[in-house]
This record gives sequence, C-alpha cells and structure tokens, in this order.
Amino acid sequence: MKIFREPGKLQKWCRARKLAGKRIALVPTMGYLHEGHLSLIERARRKGADEIVVSVFVNPVQFGPNEDFAKYPRDEKADLAKCRAAGATAVFFPTPANMYLPRHSVYVNEEDLSRGLCGARRPGHFRGVCTVVAKLFNLTHPDFAVFGQKDYQQAQVIRRMVRDLNFDLQIVVAPIVREPSGLARSSRNTYLSAEERERAVAISRGLKGLRGLKGLKGLKGELEKAGLKVDYVECVDAETLEPRKRVEKGCCVLVAAYCGKTRLIDNILI
Ligand code: PAF
Repeated sequence: MKIFREPGKLQKWCRARKLAGKRIALVPTMGYLHEGHLSLIERARRKGADEIVVSVFVNPVQFGPNEDFAKYPRDEKADLAKCRAAGATAVFFPTPANMYLPRHSVYVNEEDLSRGLCGARRPGHFRGVCTVVAKLFNLTHPDFAVFGQKDYQQAQVIRRMVRDLNFDLQIVVAPIVREPSGLARSSRNTYLSAEERERAVAISRGLKGLRGLKGLKGLKGELEKAGLKVDYVECVDAETLEPRKRVEKGCCVLVAAYCGKTRLIDNILI
C-alpha cells in the first residue's frame, strides 16, 4: 500500500495509474476509521476498482470557529493498519499546510442543496466540504468516489457539484453502517460516555419507528424524552431537499441532535 503526504506526488501516481488503464476509486475520509469507512472501501473493491485511494484529512475549512476541529479524533497508525487490512492500495495523509497554500483564495460553493439542514446550522461547512472534495477529485481523477449515506445532505451536495462542474466521475453512496444498538457509526461516537451512548440510540430507534410515533413531532418528543437537544428533525424531498409536509415515499427524514456536547446526525430514506 502506497502512502502519500504530498498532493503533487499523489497526483503524479494517480495520473500514471490512469494512463496504465487502471480504474481508480476515491474514498474521502477524515480518519479515525470505523466500520462505516471500511464498508466504503469494501464497496470500492466490489465495484472493481484497481486502485483504492483513501484520503485521511481533518479538513479545517469545513469546521466553524466553535466546532471540534482541534479535538476531532486522530489516529494515523490505526488508520493505516485498517486501510491496509481493508484492501486500500494508497492512503493520502496531507497536512492543512500542503492542502491550503499561503493565500489560498479559491473555494467551491454549492448554493441550493446546502441552504437548509446542516448547511443552515453550520455556515461555511459545505463550502469547506466542496472545496476539499473538488481538490481531492483533481488530485486523484477517480472513476468513482464513495461516500456514506449517513451524511445524506453532503452526498447530495457533492452529486450536484459533480453535475454542475462537469467532474468526469461517478458518485456512489453506500448505506449507513450501525452499531448493534442501532446507533449510526461515526468517528464522533468516541466523544460519548457509556450513558450518553445509551441515550443516543433514541435517534435510530425513533427514525426506525417513525410510523408508530405518528410523524416528526412524535420523533422530536422521543428524542427530547431521551434528554437529547434537537437541532433539527426534518422531512425533505430526497432529491431536491425541499421541505415536505408528509412523510411519504421519495422523502428523507433527517435528524441532528446533541447528546451532551456531541452533535449526532442520522437519517432514513422513505
Ligand atoms: O464526510 C467526511 O468525512 C468529510 O466531510 C469529507 C467528505 C471527507 C470531506 O472532508
């Protein structure tokens, strides 16, 4: 497995692999890899990629000033071992300084799908995501890139960026991977105490039991009963992310809620 730290070196290698006729898959991550990430690598393998490039980069540009950039969990050694075991063929560990050169001044803004949900609560977040993902696409020229459904809005925003900026690649979205309790796997779960972890299960339980809860109000009530602070519970059109009144086929119900200080997200496609 190749390890790259310099963007230029990764780009040169990817170009050579592409010229040799190899199919490249990109799996962008912020590291502290868990089974959710490993399922993305596995998906890339099953889709027939010859080269699977996993990027591990806690992207400062997508964090707000009061968010968890500094304390976001990092474990390069464990990530390397996991990538190797999962069948990645290259790992990219850039630094903020070599991804964002002095006086970096070009950003990518998606201006429709990023307006609501997490975009409304985390100003600048999707600008940071689109910018770094566009850079990763330019560095790796993948045939396809794999993202997780847990970040549903992110996946839709990136699809739109690919369409509108004519990136020549396919976006693959892999299903949410859950802990046995139902809690969606996330690197941020590591912030949760044992007691918080139990309460956090209300999110996946509520989404699964949406019908029984009689809609979004019931779901919100269940989350509050578990002591979670609801950031949003919304039902939107799965394609346009426009708010929908009725929970029905073609919708996505999304939740963001704080369990203690930890902000968790989850969703279900109807
Ligand atoms: O989903 C994530 O981990 C990040 O937002 C991504 C796509 C790697 C961009 O930094």
